[in-house]
Amino acid sequence: MFTMEMFKKPFFATTFVLFMILCDVSLATKDNQKNTYIVHMAKSKMPASFNHHSVWYKSIMKSISNSTEMLYTYDNTIHGLSTRLTLEEARLLKSQTGILKVLPEKIYKPLTTRTPKFLGLDKIADMFPKSNEASDIVIGLLDTGVWPESKSFEDTGLGPIPSSWKGKCESGDNFTTLNCNKKLIGARFFLKGYEASMGPLNATNQFRSPRDADGHGTHTASTAAGSAVKGASLFGYASGTARGMASRARVAVYKVCWGDTCAVSDILAAMDAAISDNVNVISASLGGGAIDYDEENLAIGAFAAMEKGIVVSCAAGNTGPDSSSLQNIAPWMITVGAGTLDRDFPVNVNLGNGQNYSGVSIYDGKFSRHTLVPLIYAGNASAKIGAELCETDSLDPKKVKGKIVLCDRGNSSRVEKGLVVKSAGGVGMVLANSESDGEELVADAHLLPTTAVGFKAGKLIKLYLQDARKPTSRLMFEGTKVGIEPSPVVAAFSSRGPNPITPEVLKPDFIAPGVNILAAFTKLVGPTNLDQDDRRVDFNIISGTSMACPHASGIAALIKSFHPDWSPAAIRSALMTTAYTTYNNGKKLLDSATNGPSTPFEVGAGHVNPVAALNPGLVYDLAVDDYLNFLCALNYTPDRIEVVARRKFRCNAHKHYSVTDLNYPSFGVVFKPKVGGSGATIVKHKRTLTNVGDAGTYKVSVTVDISSVKIAVEPNVLSFNKNEKKSYTITFTVSGPPPPSNFGFGRLEWSNGKNVVGSPISITWESGRA
Ligand SMILES: *[C@@H]1O[C@H](CO)[C@@H](O)[C@H](O)[C@H]1NC(C)=O
Ligand SMILES: *[C@@H]1O[C@H](CO)[C@@H](O)[C@H](O)[C@H]1NC(C)=O
Ligand SMILES: *[C@@H]1O[C@H](CO)[C@@H](O)[C@H](O)[C@H]1NC(C)=O
Ligand SMILES: *[C@@H]1O[C@H](CO)[C@@H](O)[C@H](O)[C@H]1NC(C)=O
Ligand SMILES: *[C@@H]1O[C@H](CO)[C@@H](O)[C@H](O)[C@H]1NC(C)=O
Ligand SMILES: *[C@@H]1O[C@H](CO)[C@@H](O)[C@H](O)[C@H]1NC(C)=O
Repeated sequence: MFTMEMFKKPFFATTFVLFMILCDVSLATKDNQKNTYIVHMAKSKMPASFNHHSVWYKSIMKSISNSTEMLYTYDNTIHGLSTRLTLEEARLLKSQTGILKVLPEKIYKPLTTRTPKFLGLDKIADMFPKSNEASDIVIGLLDTGVWPESKSFEDTGLGPIPSSWKGKCESGDNFTTLNCNKKLIGARFFLKGYEASMGPLNATNQFRSPRDADGHGTHTASTAAGSAVKGASLFGYASGTARGMASRARVAVYKVCWGDTCAVSDILAAMDAAISDNVNVISASLGGGAIDYDEENLAIGAFAAMEKGIVVSCAAGNTGPDSSSLQNIAPWMITVGAGTLDRDFPVNVNLGNGQNYSGVSIYDGKFSRHTLVPLIYAGNASAKIGAELCETDSLDPKKVKGKIVLCDRGNSSRVEKGLVVKSAGGVGMVLANSESDGEELVADAHLLPTTAVGFKAGKLIKLYLQDARKPTSRLMFEGTKVGIEPSPVVAAFSSRGPNPITPEVLKPDFIAPGVNILAAFTKLVGPTNLDQDDRRVDFNIISGTSMACPHASGIAALIKSFHPDWSPAAIRSALMTTAYTTYNNGKKLLDSATNGPSTPFEVGAGHVNPVAALNPGLVYDLAVDDYLNFLCALNYTPDRIEVVARRKFRCNAHKHYSVTDLNYPSFGVVFKPKVGGSGATIVKHKRTLTNVGDAGTYKVSVTVDISSVKIAVEPNVLSFNKNEKKSYTITFTVSGPPPPSNFGFGRLEWSNGKNVVGSPISITWESGRA
């Protein structure tokens, strides 16, 4: 899951252990210690004597050990299985005929709130009640499960379950088949991989069933496809009708995350099931870092899903604003970054000197509106170093009692800091952003009155603290404010480009709402997820690219219902080419990390625009072969291609493959250095457009923000009949020295006067390491 700053310690511990086992054999003390491996096999090498691949898999395993413990045999996502092996067994297995790759288990994490109105979906909501197509679409969510009693999963008005549906509703702890209905049509759980690595599930705070003990999965599922619920709010905040993006689509839940731990062997098993179950969209608000496509099992599973026409939509990660911090970047996935809504929960902090600073947060209790109380900086409220972060046990109650405490953001979770201040006797908290958080304001349902302020305000409040003899302050809660401008603004936490694996494929694809999103929640834990939080809510407000992803998944489902024959690539193209990059006043969308204009590295093609995406005019389509050619262009060996694509595919030695020919709706232009000489000065990208609108003539226009590259498009006018395809070439020619940053950005647009088909351009000069 991509819940921001909700990283719990066990996750780091696990990653570390696995890492040591993999990378340093000498550290593995016990020879007989077993670990989980995902074994990719070359089915093409299966001897004819085996009548089923599972029998062959077993016989290979038997040949290396009489005691291997099989976790899963995969049928759709990969040819292979997951199993427990000692290091020696894993080594032995790698040398067997038919074994392509033996990958160690990996732990992925969930990546963690006015949405329909802001997106303009209120306009199209009225278009759906008549359409049964929308209700035939199934969205599968790989997440922490579901709280089925939530009103977001009521099935009022929905017809029978689509006949194509092959999934099921599994029972378990506090979950029976009766918990499913015509909205929540599937619910399954996968934990063999989890238990093999982490030990038995702790049943005191987890359900051995699809039931959600965390809230993340309920939130993402209701965001993607929740039914309309009138009068939804969190403690009165953000009140209104809560509605998923595709409010008539069906929900199938695949629980793969147990707390913050999602084992990739379980994720693959869930994707395997989702493919057989016939979902149309897979929504994955989780991630495990950026690694090459043939080592990344989620990307490999997504390839199989894509082949079946399933859209795979993923969170881009919450490790911004560092550059190249993206994950889930395979070109057959949708990679979604996060932006703000036009809604805020303002809390002003008034200082004793009369100054006011605005921040945000949510508080359900009583607070004194009028009295100024002493204000203290956490860094000065303890003998301990590091107290400024308000980490557990860092504050001195004698110094904090009765005061508002200014804490710096970072390291521990934001709500945990509030608990630390409260436990030490503080009456309020001002949570100040670090420089890298910039002016991004994330609202949480804190356990004490709080305001989260930007980096600049934090600095000024600290100046006041230094200068004032007796600093005081009070918090003024303003409730919910809508119509905030500017919006959207890119979240500082949203992961950014350039693409760390293939810079020619510009990622993220686009941004969607991911800050302060209201959606359904579990009733097992409170809105802060802290043990000490005994509040229970129907809806919670949380933030993360985890929240942006299901917005995209839901909108993809809507497009699929309008255009059932469109490929996942065509759907992504529609989402990208219709996204917007500027506000109504023509200024570029802002990035809260810098408070300056965003670039394609933060927003990709821009902010998603669901209404426009239904009628994009033209699309950049891609088929399975195009992705295979892409792998050839990356010089993948036949074995590496077989790991990703589950088939023998030999790149044609006489054919020239180029990653710049991948028919992607964006342009990652890379000028590479040459050995011992100056770098490349010309880069060409080829593209093919398919007309999905009326016949007509489109003209191209290109803008670029640097003068050192000239851009030419050939041809620059394209006339289309209905459904016709036309190709063009875009040539980037260096005509001057690169800018100091080594980056430039631009945009290409094809327009027929009605549809504007836009593509972002990034231009990068790679530094001369060759
Ligand atoms: C498995 O057991 C059989 C029979 O006991 C033995 O012959 C064989 O060598 C064993 N295989 C391995 C890999 O230990
Ligand atoms: C789970 O079900 C049991 C038995 O019906 C019940 O006692 C318990 O309260 C339930 N737990 C939760 C958290 O709903
Ligand atoms: C299970 O979780 C509970 C509540 O968080 C905790 O008190 C207990 O120690 C845990 N048990 C184990 C075996 O980890
Ligand atoms: C600060 O806000 C309070 C009420 O929120 C208002 O009375 C006061 O005039 C404001 N002061 C400044 C300097 O804006
Ligand atoms: C933040 O946490 C990390 C890891 O626990 C620690 O190494 C680092 O010192 C902490 N930073 C501060 C400022 O306390
Ligand atoms: C912290 O305390 C020191 C020493 O009393 C003082 O100089 C400094 O201004 C204080 N800093 C803040 C931010 O309150």
